[in-house]
Amino acid sequence: MYRGGNDGQAIDRAGAAFSGAASPHSEPVLEMSFRVDRYDFAAAGEAASKIKQVLRQLGMAPELVRRAAVAAYEAEMNLVIHSEGGQILLRVDTEKVTLVACDGGPGMPDVSLAMREGYSTAPDEIREMGFGAGMGLPNMKRCSDSFSIESEVGRGTTVTAAIRIA
Ligand SMILES: Nc1ncnc2c1ncn2[C@@H]1O[C@H](COP(=O)(O)OP(=O)(O)OP(=O)(O)O)[C@@H](O)[C@H]1O
Ligand SMILES: [Mg+2]
Repeated sequence: MYRGGNDGQAIDRAGAAFSGAASPHSEPVLEMSFRVDRYDFAAAGEAASKIKQVLRQLGMAPELVRRAAVAAYEAEMNLVIHSEGGQILLRVDTEKVTLVACDGGPGMPDVSLAMREGYSTAPDEIREMGFGAGMGLPNMKRCSDSFSIESEVGRGTTVTAAIRIA
């Protein structure tokens, strides 16, 4: 299995493992983690574009790559805008692509409210940048085959989205 950080090295090896029929089901073939800093709008979107590039290099179907890239982008922007900073983990196994976005706070007081289309706590200055439509989490869910949020105020939030490969 390939394990890596923000640089995408050795993806070829992961690609070889991915296409190898010998891999048992669900055995991870690639794990990468990407740090995402709060309010770092200069770097915002880099993790999602790296994830898109890695999945393309693995030879994933364009529609799957598109869905994963959209989900990763929404997760990344939420970390930038709403969290104190966190990370996105990309995990690929023989059955699915999984994205896990986790942060250390502030957490969501009401997860089902956060999931509602149009609900946003983004302040005016963020809305002026074009964010804050309250569509990110619903959009992530739409792009995923399985989707879950675990959150605790004062502890943090973990959003998990998985997309089946076949
Ligand atoms: N990581 C997070 N930590 C705490 N709260 C969050 C986090 N992610 C989302 N939220 C809360 O959930 C709300 C809805 O998120 P969602 O991504 O759907 O919309 P948005 O980010 O406000 O706007 P958009 O994504 O359309 O730009 C946010 O406004 C925020 O209150
Ligand atoms: Mg959002």
